[in-house]
Amino acid sequence: MALGELRERTGAALRAGSERAVLKHRAAGKMSARERVLWLLDTDSLLETDQLARHGAADAPGPYGDGVITGTGTIDGRPVCVFSQDFTVLGGSMGETHGRKILKTMDTAVRLGCPVISINESGGARIQEGVVSLAYYAELGRRNVRASGLVPQIALIAGPCAGGAVYSPALMDVVVMVDRSSYMFVTGPDVLRSVTGEDVTVDELGGARANAAVSGNCHHVARDEAEALEWIQELLSYLPSNAMELPPAVPFTPVPGRTARDLALDTLVPDADNQGYDVREVISAVVDDAELLEIHAQFAPNIVCGLARVEGRPVGVVANQPLHRAGALDIDATEKAARFVRFCDAFNLPVLTFVDVPGYLPGVAQERDGIIRRGAKLLHAYAEATVPKVTVVLRKAYGGAYAVMGSKHLGADCNLAWPTAQIAVMGGEAAVEVLHRRRLAEAGEDAPAVREALVEEYRRTLMTPYAAAERGYVDAVIEPSSTRAQVGAALRALSTKREAAVGRKHGNIPL
Ligand code: HXC
Repeated sequence: MALGELRERTGAALRAGSERAVLKHRAAGKMSARERVLWLLDTDSLLETDQLARHGAADAPGPYGDGVITGTGTIDGRPVCVFSQDFTVLGGSMGETHGRKILKTMDTAVRLGCPVISINESGGARIQEGVVSLAYYAELGRRNVRASGLVPQIALIAGPCAGGAVYSPALMDVVVMVDRSSYMFVTGPDVLRSVTGEDVTVDELGGARANAAVSGNCHHVARDEAEALEWIQELLSYLPSNAMELPPAVPFTPVPGRTARDLALDTLVPDADNQGYDVREVISAVVDDAELLEIHAQFAPNIVCGLARVEGRPVGVVANQPLHRAGALDIDATEKAARFVRFCDAFNLPVLTFVDVPGYLPGVAQERDGIIRRGAKLLHAYAEATVPKVTVVLRKAYGGAYAVMGSKHLGADCNLAWPTAQIAVMGGEAAVEVLHRRRLAEAGEDAPAVREALVEEYRRTLMTPYAAAERGYVDAVIEPSSTRAQVGAALRALSTKREAAVGRKHGNIPL
């Protein structure tokens, strides 16, 4: 009898969504909220909470679970907390019971010191619950902020996310979207059409690609839900469970000597300054198994950020990418990298930086959009980070960008440079124009030859890594093919680095 009632209630909880809504969901080729959780977690590890919670008056209670599945489980044997919104129940909208369940999950994650993964598919604040639903969004935001930098917070956008449903993900560390089946925006196309007159499709406004490549709200676009969940599992393999732990190391078999990939670095940098090459080739040669989990890959491709391992230990990699905008730092690139460096610092991931940067991107648009204020974030992030910082200058390190990209002066622990490094205030042509304008004007028709000689002299004397090495700004000038060995040795030596945080409430990063 007692067992019968339990089975009846549990069965109702498993069929909480209306048949029509479930059919529509299935027809769109989507996993159910529960299937996503089961896919993500280790088999049989889900310990569901509040499955039988419901909202509403005693004589007219709402569906069991109130549109969200919550609980704890494990991924690769490591504890996590998870919540997954069920769009087939009241559009996955945020109401009182729904909110209470999520807050409990967030509090549990902080108490246990484990990552929290949110799977979001929601119409936002539950309209029929009025201010209560708004209150729960604010409460959730407060929980996200409290958990920020304490435990990793990963959000998967698995379908529509509108209104308040986008702000909790925005406060999390990493946002993953599913191509073509997920979207997020604060205000949807219908409202835009009537309020601002703008005509835009759902996909153009809030699809995965728009959020990944244009606004930068999304850090990874997955082909489908399974790939998204797999990517999250892989991401977590690089992260500690909380900020008090070190990232998990994996067994590592040393690769002695110089491999073909190492040797290829000796000839990678082109002779011509303005010729591009793929900095990912350098990263591949240095990190274990040539594996880099890129984060924010579609946004600001002029800087590459990602997670990798060196000698089995996770690191965060930041690298200028000469293939895009010559690797110049623009607003998007500096914000992308600043956020990534702070993420690494919060979770004890050493920062490995590869530099080939002609400077901050010049231009009226960049100045007006705030390259000063926004570009300063990267300087703030590097200066503030207390994790081990290893920097390798590959080619250009000009001007402010030299200073910002993990220089010794911002507290880097080990700074290496290739012989091809050009550490200088600016490039040769530009420098000669500033320093020798009068002489060039007087040279008349000899001006091109004079300019060439002056540029050559500038290159030889001022655009080398040796002036920096003489002052200790660069610890060593190394053969490119020895980079893997040198970086490995540096990170090994720095693995015991501890730097106490400054006693204050918090810094004031220029937001
Ligand atoms: C209650 C909601 C809901 C909501 C959707 N539903 N959103 N119920 N509150 N916010 C219900 C629908 O009534 C419908 O119920 C079911 O969920 C599925 O919704 P559809 O509209 O049929 O789905 P779809 O066509 O896919 O459209 C998805 C959508 C749309 C774009 C998300 O539902 C929508 O525009 N919803 C409203 C979005 C919104 O304005 N939210 C409030 C924002 S204000 P039935 O019974 O028909 O199946 C906000 C402020 C928070 O969130 C501030 C925090 C700081």
